[in-house]
Amino acid sequence: MENGVINAALLGLGTVGTGVYKVMKRQEPQMQHKLNAVLKIKKILVRNLEKAAKKIDDPSVLTNDWQSIIQDDSIDIVIEVMGGLEPAGTYIMEALRAGKNVVTANKDLIAVRGGELLDEAAKAHVDLLFEASVAGGIPIIRPLKQCLSANDIGEVMGIVNGTTNYILSSMTAEGMSFAQALAEATRLGYAEADPTADIEGYDAGRKVAIMASIAFNSRVAFSDVYTEGITRITANDIRYAAEMGWVIKLLGVAKNTEEGIEARVHPMLIPKDHPLATVAGSYNAVFVHGDAVDDVMFYGRGAGEMPTASAIMGDVFETARNISAGAKGSTHCGCYKNLPIKKIDDIISRYFVRMEVEDKPGVLATVASVLGNNSVSIAQVTQKEKMGDNAEIVVITDRVKECHLKDAILTFKDMSVIRSVPALIRVYG
Ligand code: NAP
Ligand code: HSE
Repeated sequence: MENGVINAALLGLGTVGTGVYKVMKRQEPQMQHKLNAVLKIKKILVRNLEKAAKKIDDPSVLTNDWQSIIQDDSIDIVIEVMGGLEPAGTYIMEALRAGKNVVTANKDLIAVRGGELLDEAAKAHVDLLFEASVAGGIPIIRPLKQCLSANDIGEVMGIVNGTTNYILSSMTAEGMSFAQALAEATRLGYAEADPTADIEGYDAGRKVAIMASIAFNSRVAFSDVYTEGITRITANDIRYAAEMGWVIKLLGVAKNTEEGIEARVHPMLIPKDHPLATVAGSYNAVFVHGDAVDDVMFYGRGAGEMPTASAIMGDVFETARNISAGAKGSTHCGCYKNLPIKKIDDIISRYFVRMEVEDKPGVLATVASVLGNNSVSIAQVTQKEKMGDNAEIVVITDRVKECHLKDAILTFKDMSVIRSVPALIRVYG
């Protein structure tokens, strides 16, 4: 900081970068009061200067030369909103080593290299903040790191992907198929041109890795998170779940159990009256259970230009205040434990199993016997539609270790009376 001015560089001027630029402009008149300093965007790194020039008032700040930023000692804060692992990873590492504070929205990077980058920030006595990397505009990283830090957190569970929540909400409310709902999400601009990371659960998995690491003070990488998306959920699954009082949501779940950390993303049936069941459309919500605070829920817009910019600018303001107060570098990696990660086969859950079976006497008894032989207890069984010689049945199990249920399903695959098992969905509780 020189003469009360803190200079920032913005890397990327896409959806989120444009939002950051707008919030920065809106806040200009209040900065002195809020930060005891003036914050300025000195440079913006883009690939295409001409395209970017149309988005801002002062195109003289645009550059496509990273060296002009990293070598500028008057730049105190680097705001990374380019996305992707590289070159963002290299730029952030170089910025930290050069003594610059970094604010990023990059969940892909933080979920994979968060520990390494935080260690580098601590070494350089600078801030590395990433509130926007989980659930867009919803404050969750800082609450977990600060407000709830005096708790032993047992569980963090949430809807952390807006695209899939929009798709499942449309399938539930309007009876759409997955393909129809995805097409609608794409038309409205929720889903990206390549929606794989959203619909396969990878985007939510990265957010679970970040939240679990902070909540349980133990490193959880993206590769530790079990991910299963929503592509196999059918309108029938949603209808049958609704008939039994449940809603299907794509949930990110992180639990700190005696046997290790569970970190997973998959569709789940939750009761219609659960607070997460009413989170509809592109909204996100995160439910946290701590030993002192009990249950807390965070709700809001999990993506988009301005909500995400809100989270980033909160981090930028905190960094600016730290610079003003001479207190930068107070954040560090909080993963001081080394807890084991539980395998998905070892989790215990209830299950919704939809099967197509031959429609003849004794088949239900066979299904019950295979489940029983594998220690799976049946809570409920219903025959649904008939299709020629086949019938569709839905079994709800009691709580059972996942490997036992999978053993039963393997046995079903070898039996001619069991035509197929198209749906296996975990059930809350
Ligand atoms: P975006 O619209 O694709 O914008 C990315 C920007 O970065 C573009 O302006 C792109 O330039 C620029 N860029 C990419 N690589 C570059 C490079 N090597 N050098 C210079 N500029 C480069 O993406 P976004 O939606 O704003 O997302 C940005 C980050 O925020 C990602 O990490 C994302 O995961 C995270 N995030 C996004 C949201 C959201 O709602 N969108 C929410 C939370 C977090 P070109 O246009 O020239 O390619
Ligand atoms: N693609 C994400 C979503 C937004 O649909 O929630 C960025 O985190």
